[in-house]
Amino acid sequence: MNTINTIENVNEKEAHGFHSSQSWIPESLSTEDLTWRYAPDLTAEEKETVLSLTKDSGFVSLFTPFVPNKETKKSDVAGILNLISGLPKLESIAGSMILDKKLSESIGAGIVVVAADGSELPVGQPVKQVIYESMPTDVYFETIGGFSLAKIKISEGDPEIVEGLHVHNGGRLIVALSKSSKVVLPSGTVNLRKNDVIWMPPWTLHSFLTGDFLALHPNEAGWNHPEAFLPYRS
Ligand SMILES: [Fe+2]
Repeated sequence: MNTINTIENVNEKEAHGFHSSQSWIPESLSTEDLTWRYAPDLTAEEKETVLSLTKDSGFVSLFTPFVPNKETKKSDVAGILNLISGLPKLESIAGSMILDKKLSESIGAGIVVVAADGSELPVGQPVKQVIYESMPTDVYFETIGGFSLAKIKISEGDPEIVEGLHVHNGGRLIVALSKSSKVVLPSGTVNLRKNDVIWMPPWTLHSFLTGDFLALHPNEAGWNHPEAFLPYRS
């Protein structure tokens, strides 16, 4: 039987490299076809366009260079933000499907923590502020079902900490913006320093502790979607 540690019962680890976690999906979703669940408003024609983009080798190859593997040491975060921030809706949805699939294939059940390459991040000005699971969040761009980028401030008492281990329907590219912070996994706690970059496939158990984080979400469900944050229940 697998066991899951609580936040109080963990081993602390140095950040850079691969750290194993577990994939988990709530039973209520495990038998569903989730392909369009978080992009529910697309017409049949739009869905066709998205699917053909996910099979277009030229389009897929735009994302491939950014996908980390377990040995990756650095990430070109500015490069992927430049690619993604200008994408129209259907390209954003297709791109987020491609990135999520590749993250699952190349990382599996775990996270990869790498150093940022030092480039300045092209985030621009926030377009709106929202409260995301009680956390103040600056949104830079968003496409429902596609990519969103936001700065999330996690404080004591927020669900990210209180609920502990949880999953999201999409993968994550997170940049730690605070001097020091941590991410908790079933296998232990990983210490993070400013500018560490964390890559995570969809449905990966994790919990970030206090700090500011830049978060790129593929397959954005929407900030107040009831399934945007799914606490682990054994
Ligand atoms: Fe999370």
